[in-house]
Amino acid sequence: MTSDNTVGYHRTWQRSVDADTRADFWLEAAQAIDWITPPRVALEERSPGTWRWFPDGELNTSYNALDRHVLAGRGNQTAVIYDSAMSGTRIRISYLELLGRVSRFAGVLRENGVGRGDRVIVYLPMIPEAIVAMLACARIGAVHSVVFGGFAASELAVRIDDARPTVIVTASGGLEPGRAVEYLPLVQRAMAQSAGSVRTVIVRDREMIPGRAADYAGADGVAWLDWADEEAKATPADPVALRSEDPLYILYTSGTTGNPKGIVRDNGGHAVALAWSMRNIYAAGVGDVFWAASDVGWVVGHSYIVYAPLLVGATTVIYEGKPIGTPDAGAFWRVVEDYTVKVLFTAPTAIRAIRRVDPELRELEKYDVSSLHGLFLAGERLDPETYHWANDGLHCPVVDHWWQTETGWAICANPRGIAELETKPGSATFPVPGYDVVILDSKGKPVTRVGKDGNIAIRLPLPPGNLLGIWGSEERFASAYLSAFPGFYATGDSGHFDDEGYLYVMGRTDDVINVAGHRLSTGSLEEVLTLHPAVAECAVLGVHDPLKGQRAAGFVTLKAGASIDHDTLAKELIALVREHVGPVAAFRDVTILERLPKTRSGKILRKTIRQIVDGEPYTVPPTIEDPATLDALTLAVHGARNALGH
Ligand code: COA
Ligand code: AMP
Repeated sequence: MTSDNTVGYHRTWQRSVDADTRADFWLEAAQAIDWITPPRVALEERSPGTWRWFPDGELNTSYNALDRHVLAGRGNQTAVIYDSAMSGTRIRISYLELLGRVSRFAGVLRENGVGRGDRVIVYLPMIPEAIVAMLACARIGAVHSVVFGGFAASELAVRIDDARPTVIVTASGGLEPGRAVEYLPLVQRAMAQSAGSVRTVIVRDREMIPGRAADYAGADGVAWLDWADEEAKATPADPVALRSEDPLYILYTSGTTGNPKGIVRDNGGHAVALAWSMRNIYAAGVGDVFWAASDVGWVVGHSYIVYAPLLVGATTVIYEGKPIGTPDAGAFWRVVEDYTVKVLFTAPTAIRAIRRVDPELRELEKYDVSSLHGLFLAGERLDPETYHWANDGLHCPVVDHWWQTETGWAICANPRGIAELETKPGSATFPVPGYDVVILDSKGKPVTRVGKDGNIAIRLPLPPGNLLGIWGSEERFASAYLSAFPGFYATGDSGHFDDEGYLYVMGRTDDVINVAGHRLSTGSLEEVLTLHPAVAECAVLGVHDPLKGQRAAGFVTLKAGASIDHDTLAKELIALVREHVGPVAAFRDVTILERLPKTRSGKILRKTIRQIVDGEPYTVPPTIEDPATLDALTLAVHGARNALGH
C-alpha cells in the first residue's frame, strides 16, 4: 500500500465523521444534487438515535435521475440497456425516452388515485418497466415497495398487509431457466390472503408469458388495467417537490422473525449518498456503463441498477438472466463486451458459479473485457479462494465491499475514487467515509485486541442514505438496531479489524442467513416447517454451501404417533417452504431426528448442530441434556450425505 493513498483516504474519512466537520463534508456532497430548496442544515437529531439528513432541503429524486440530464443536453445518451438472455430481447432507452415513459407512467399512477405518501407495490421481473415504475412513484412522491419475484404469494401478502398499497404494478411474469413464472395468479392469491387495501392492479403484458389484465377484470372488485393501454392515454406528470426526509421507498428484508422489516429510505440523504458513492467508491460517472448483475427486488438493485447510475448520468444495464446456463458461463463477459461495461457489481455466488462451470475461464477468452475497470462484490462474504481466482483471471481490480439493505450503500470498501488501497483477500478493506465502525463485545465495550471477533457496530449518526426506520414501527427500529449498544447501530454482523485497520466480516450474530446472496430468516423457515401436522419441533440453520455460501438445512422431530415415512415428510416440507416462502429459499435439506440436541434448559444447540453438519471440530457443551443426540445427528447427517452422493 502506498502511504500517500492511505493518508488521503484517512483524511477524507476523518472529515466525514468528525462532529466538527461532517456537516460541511456532506453539505458539499449534497451539491451533486439539484435541489428545489438547497439544504443549509446537514443533519438533525429527532429522537435519541434517530437522525434526519438535510432537513430543510427539498428535491425530487426522479428529476435528479432524469430531467436534469436531459436539460443538460444529454437526452440522447443511453440511460438503460435492457438485455434479456432469457428472451433474446435487447433494448437501449435514452434519457429522453426514459423521461417520457416515467412521466407518462407517473400520470397513470396519479390518475389511479396515487398521491404523495401513498404506497405502490412493484412486483416486476427484470424488465425496464421496473425502473419506470420506481421512478414514476418517486416523481409524484409515492412510496414504492418492490417485491422480489422469487417470493411466494404469502410473502407478497405479508408485504401488502404491512405497506397497505392502493396499487400493485406487475407483469404477466418472469423468466427462469426452463420455466415461466406466472405472476398474476400469485398476485391474485396474495390479495385474497391480505386485508384488501389494493384497488388497482396494473399489468405489463409479456407476450411469451400467459396472463393478461383482461383475464382478471372484475374478478375481485379490483380494477385490473393493461400497462400499455394506460400509458398510451396518460397525461405526463411533472416532478413534485418533496422534503429530503419524505420516504422514497420501503424495502422489506429478513429479520430474526417471520415478519420482514420494512426498511424506509428517504429522498435527500439517499440521493446524496448514492451520487457520492458512484464517484468515490466505484469511480464511475457521466456516460460510464455500470452493470449491477443483481435484481431490482434487492437493495443492490434499488441502489445500483436504478438510482445511483441514473443520478450521476451513467448508463445502467438491466440483465434478465443468470451467470451460467443462459446460455453458458460466458454470459457475463458477453454483456461486458457488448456494452463496454466499466463497472460490474455482483454477488460472490455468481463468480463461484462461473468458476464451477469454467474453472479455466475459457469463455472469457472469447470476449474483449478490457473496458472493465472493476469487479465489485457484495451480498455475502467473499472467500479468499474466489477472490484470488477472479483477480488472477480478470486482470481488473476485484473489490469486496460490505453493506446491508438497511444501509443502502457500502459500509466498508476499497473506495477506488478516493485512493487505490491495497486489497487483502477476506477483508472488505476500510470503513467508507461517513461510517465510524467499531467492534464491541457482548457488553458493548470496545474490543481492543486486534484480530478478535466481536459485534460490528456503527457509531451514530449513520451517514446519509441509511434507513430512516422500519415502516410503521419506531419501537421496532429502536429494539432491532439501537438498544443493544446505546449510541451505536448494531449491524448484526460479527468480525474484526487487523493491525492495519482492515475489516473482516465473518458472519451474522442473529438468525439471518445468506443463500446465494439472498437474505433469509431461519425463524421464518421454522415457522413454515411447524405448519406441517407431523412436525413436533424443528430448527433451521445456515450451513456451509460451496456454491451459495450458505444453504438452509432443517432438522425436525415428529409428533408422538405421527406415521409418515421420512422421504414423504421431507418432500412435503420442501414443498411447504416453496409454497410459503418461495423458490428463492432453495430449501432442500431435511434431516429427521428422534430428538434435537438441546441444553438441559431446553435451548436447541444450534451452533453445535451447525458445526457437526459443516464437519468442523466441536466440543460437547457441558450443559447438554443428552450427548447421545449429537451422535444420532452425526449419523443422520452422514447418512444423508452418502445418500445424496456428497
Ligand atoms: N423469480 C422466480 N423464481 C426465482 C427468481 C425470480 N426472480 N430468482 C430465483 N428464482 C428461483 C430459481 O429459479 C430457483 O428455482 P428452482 O428451485 O425451481 O430451480 C430458486 O429460485 C433458487 O434460485 P437461485 O438461488 O438463484 O439458484 P439457481 O440454481 O437458480 O441459480 C446461481 C444459481 C448461482 C446461478 C444464482 O443463485 C445466481 O445467479 N446467484 C447470484 C447471486 C445474486 O445475484 N444475488 C443477488 C444479491 S446481490
Ligand atoms: P442484504 O441486506 O441482503 O444486503 O444482506 C446483508 C448481509 O449480507 C450483511 O449483514 C452481511 O451479513 C452479508 N454481507 C453483505 N456483504 C458482505 C460482504 N462483503 N462480506 C461479508 N458479508 C456480507
